[in-house]
Amino acid sequence: MLLPRALFTSLFSLGLAVALPTAIPDHPTTLFTRQDVQSAINASLPNVTIFATGGTIASQGTSNTQTVGYSVGLGVQQLIDAVPEILNISNIAGYQVSNVGSGSINETILLRLNELINIELAKEDVAGVVVTHGTDTLEETAFFLQLVVNSTKPVVCVGAMRPATALSADGPLNLLQAVTLASAPNAVGRGTMITLNDRIGSAWYTTKNNANSLDTFYSTEAGQLGFFINQVPYFYFDPALPVGLTQFDLTGVTDLPMIDILYAHQDMDPGLFNSSVVNGAEGIVLAGVGAGGISARASIAAEAVYNATGVAMVASHRSSDGFVPSSEGGFAIASGFLNPQKSRILLQLSLALGYSNEEVADVFAATYPAPVAAAMRKRR
Ligand SMILES: *[C@@H]1O[C@H](CO)[C@@H](O)[C@H](O)[C@H]1NC(C)=O
Ligand SMILES: *[C@@H]1O[C@H](CO)[C@@H](O)[C@H](O)[C@H]1NC(C)=O
Ligand SMILES: *[C@@H]1O[C@H](CO)[C@@H](O)[C@H](O)[C@H]1NC(C)=O
Ligand SMILES: *[C@@H]1O[C@H](CO)[C@@H](O)[C@H](O)[C@H]1NC(C)=O
Ligand SMILES: *[C@@H]1O[C@H](CO)[C@@H](O)[C@H](O)[C@H]1NC(C)=O
Ligand SMILES: *[C@@H]1O[C@H](CO)[C@@H](O)[C@H](O)[C@H]1NC(C)=O
Ligand SMILES: *[C@@H]1O[C@H](CO)[C@@H](O)[C@H](O)[C@H]1NC(C)=O
Repeated sequence: MLLPRALFTSLFSLGLAVALPTAIPDHPTTLFTRQDVQSAINASLPNVTIFATGGTIASQGTSNTQTVGYSVGLGVQQLIDAVPEILNISNIAGYQVSNVGSGSINETILLRLNELINIELAKEDVAGVVVTHGTDTLEETAFFLQLVVNSTKPVVCVGAMRPATALSADGPLNLLQAVTLASAPNAVGRGTMITLNDRIGSAWYTTKNNANSLDTFYSTEAGQLGFFINQVPYFYFDPALPVGLTQFDLTGVTDLPMIDILYAHQDMDPGLFNSSVVNGAEGIVLAGVGAGGISARASIAAEAVYNATGVAMVASHRSSDGFVPSSEGGFAIASGFLNPQKSRILLQLSLALGYSNEEVADVFAATYPAPVAAAMRKRR
């Protein structure tokens, strides 16, 4: 079903794809127009734009049984060619934004996605967008997009756990479902979604749970938004805004502050907080024990660094689920329900817009249950 590599190369050399000028430095992006992807567009079908970034969904192994240690390499055109059914439900345009494993997704790629997706969704004839992405950090990109995309149209992040060459590869059906979701009227107003394995989750709470298994994404206590039956998306509830939604306008932002995540454990090295700041971190997220905890020694060291530098610190939890409440007089901002990697994105965007530590605390507090947030505001 997949195009041989030789044909992939020739698609580029034929000049079908256009390299775009870049507003974000050092980052070429390739556009495949709807006319490139399908010979004739069908004007009665919805238009969906795919942003391909790489990952397992775009990977090939050396055999059909290889499911680890494969390499990224398939382009956006090959992803679409592997699932011709997609062109019966939508007209597709594609952007090749990067072609890397998701561990290598970086601020350049995120800022480019922000820029291009906001432009794309502002077009009246575009129904929604799909981002193909490695699963390892997919929740980070999804949460980033949730916070920066200013549109009610669906943004769907999708990946695969098995490379395209594997027996029972999951990528093709996941991609078909993602495009279906991006063009579904009932998906409007639900923010950025993550879909894999027949499930639809919100970028707010969906997280990768297992490094290997197909059924890896789960949505903590908040639960999934919906599911597919026979490739049709269904939702459990009408759309609702998540508590605490802050919209970040990144116009003019060309880089993002460095935020470290420090992982708490028994005998944690108290010097790590200072090392982080000395190394250039502008904010620190603690993956704390329990509800944002840390040893007494490390806590004193962290507070000393905070007192000396004012670098914003957010306490999250290393447990896969739970709530970190704010502590009275504490120097760290409580992450609430957000896990360390999502807390990092929220802190990073807040600092990118120049928010003070007080304002960052308000951004986080807005995501807490309303009475908790109100009690916290009263204390300050
Ligand atoms: C265009 O799409 C519509 C709606 O799915 C379908 O009824 C029609 O047959 C399509 N036209 C062509 C030329 O494929
Ligand atoms: C898809 O895009 C084409 C070209 O811009 C447009 O004519 C058509 O109306 C769009 N389809 C929908 C359903 O909006
Ligand atoms: C697309 O739809 C047409 C008309 O219903 C059908 O003949 C064709 O097999 C479909 N193609 C795919 C790849 O599903
Ligand atoms: C991010 O990754 C892309 C693709 O690998 C690369 O072109 C770019 O230079 C990287 N940006 C930074 C800031 O490292
Ligand atoms: C988002 O879009 C709405 C209109 O659709 C506009 O009023 C608002 O200012 C925009 N917000 C940002 C942060 O750009
Ligand atoms: C940090 O500053 C606060 C407020 O001045 C003070 O109470 C606290 O003892 C300081 N902590 C450390 C570790 O220096
Ligand atoms: C952090 O480390 C640097 C370099 O070792 C040192 O000069 C500085 O005093 C330390 N700051 C704090 C707050 O411990």
